[in-house]
Amino acid sequence: MQQRQLGTTGPTVSAIGLGAMGMSGMYGPADRAESIATVHAALDAGIDLIDTGDFYGMGHNEMLLSEALKGVPRDRYLLSVKFGALRDPRGTWGGVDNRPAALRNFLAYSLQRLGVDHIDIYRPARLDPGVPIEETVGAMAEMVQAGYIRHIGLSEVGADTLRRAAAVHPICDLQIEYSLVSRGIEADILPACRELGIGITAYGVLSRGLISGHWTKATAAAPGDFRAHSPRFQGDNAEANLALAEALRQVAEARGATTAQAAIAWVAAQGQDIVPLVGARRRDRLAEALGALELKLTSGDLAAIEAAVPAEAVRGERYPAQAMAQLDSER
Ligand SMILES: NC(=O)c1ccc[n+]([C@@H]2O[C@H](COP(=O)([O-])OP(=O)(O)OC[C@H]3O[C@@H](n4cnc5c(N)ncnc54)[C@H](OP(=O)(O)O)[C@@H]3O)[C@@H](O)[C@H]2O)c1
Repeated sequence: MQQRQLGTTGPTVSAIGLGAMGMSGMYGPADRAESIATVHAALDAGIDLIDTGDFYGMGHNEMLLSEALKGVPRDRYLLSVKFGALRDPRGTWGGVDNRPAALRNFLAYSLQRLGVDHIDIYRPARLDPGVPIEETVGAMAEMVQAGYIRHIGLSEVGADTLRRAAAVHPICDLQIEYSLVSRGIEADILPACRELGIGITAYGVLSRGLISGHWTKATAAAPGDFRAHSPRFQGDNAEANLALAEALRQVAEARGATTAQAAIAWVAAQGQDIVPLVGARRRDRLAEALGALELKLTSGDLAAIEAAVPAEAVRGERYPAQAMAQLDSER
């Protein structure tokens, strides 16, 4: 497995990471046994970075990972865990709480559910507009000192917040959406990360399956499936965006690759400081994603991919309006 370092202060990890969110219902029902088998297959293939959040299935995702990782030596995997997103018993989203007391509470519960004595990378999922980032990072730094966290990461924040956070404690990576159809980080955020020595763990590299070659308009959206509400998956937007996926498929197939492999390999080719997270929840999808690491894209290939999927061509925002408004990265 190829390796990449997360920022100048972070750990060296596999060149792609496994995102476990889809194993807890974010994209409709997932098969528990298949999810666990997918985690094992990822470890067997050399993936050692596993991303979760305490709010994925309201603890479900962490407990699933705990079961999957039982008996696996702790030094064979790194856990990246997000906190701060609030939910209610129906699963409804209810804002963010990144106060120091809240994060210590979230951390205590995550350690219990995961069945581990430390988390490798801990990060607030969103900026809490009511809490200065210095306070949140300062409290996390205390947890680093105490040995409960190894590294501090951030998620979906902009360049100013990155600078303020990095002044308090080294930040190893920013987790943020980045793909052929979500290129917003290229203007300011990616340069700021590079200046500050912060790596990127890129999510949504397939735009939630939209540019994977597997999603069609006939794909049923179960209740709770993010895509039932995502602007990019609705009506005419979906039609236009699927045409981009088709254009990508043609470029990919000419190079002996699948659509998803070309999309993942394009992100991986944007810099050694970028680690794509793939949201596979089945072994066949994981195997396909792993194939992206074998795909060596020349500058001509990259240009052909970008001509097939021009930077501004996507239709629809990457989140519904209310969720977009919570993104410090979009200010
Ligand atoms: N920090 C944040 O705000 C944030 C937000 C979202 C996600 N994340 C993290 O990033 C991870 C990845 O994000 P994501 O799952 O939204 O993005 P993604 O990888 O763009 O999308 C995953 C979707 O693509 C589909 N897919 C089709 N072919 C695939 C293949 N070969 N490999 C993997 N998936 C394939 C999956 O398929 P099926 O439907 O067929 O299973 C799934 O529905 C998440 O699991 C989570 O850990 C972080």
